[in-house]
Amino acid sequence: MMESLEAKVEPAKVMEWIENLGSDASSTVPLLQEIQTEYGYLPRTAMDLIVKNTSISGSRLFGVATFYTQFRLEPVGRHLIKICHGTACHVTGADRLNTSLNSVLGIPSGSDDDTSANGSYTVEDVACIGCCSLAPAMVIDQETFGNLSGATAKRALVKHAKKNDEELLGV
Ligand code: FES
Repeated sequence: MMESLEAKVEPAKVMEWIENLGSDASSTVPLLQEIQTEYGYLPRTAMDLIVKNTSISGSRLFGVATFYTQFRLEPVGRHLIKICHGTACHVTGADRLNTSLNSVLGIPSGSDDDTSANGSYTVEDVACIGCCSLAPAMVIDQETFGNLSGATAKRALVKHAKKNDEELLGV
């Protein structure tokens, strides 16, 4: 089902980025940033086009892509949940938010998946989001929620899903 989330990559666009940003090793990060900004992740097709049309090797490209946490190789869901794991949020129970939201989204605990099977939401752990007095906190799309417990985080997500006509697959 994740297949449907794969971005449609226009080769002409990728070629234009190469044209503008350069085609040697020093252009690796800028090119990856451009791709990620456009698609929200690094689609395999775009990566292949870079390898084919620049002097950047596949191992360098994927090495850099996996080294920096800002880059992701999997498609993102239609909505993004960022759970803060900065110090203040960590000590006040950020993990409980992950557990609760994953269960609502039907993402099995301990799995590597961070996106629900219907592509509705992706859950990401992030560093401090700058509202530590509201710890533990999270952001769904652009909206910030604070002073959360597992239960109130779940309530916020259920409400968000209802508003956005998204189906929640878990409990
Ligand atoms: S640590 Fe979570 S908002 Fe700062």
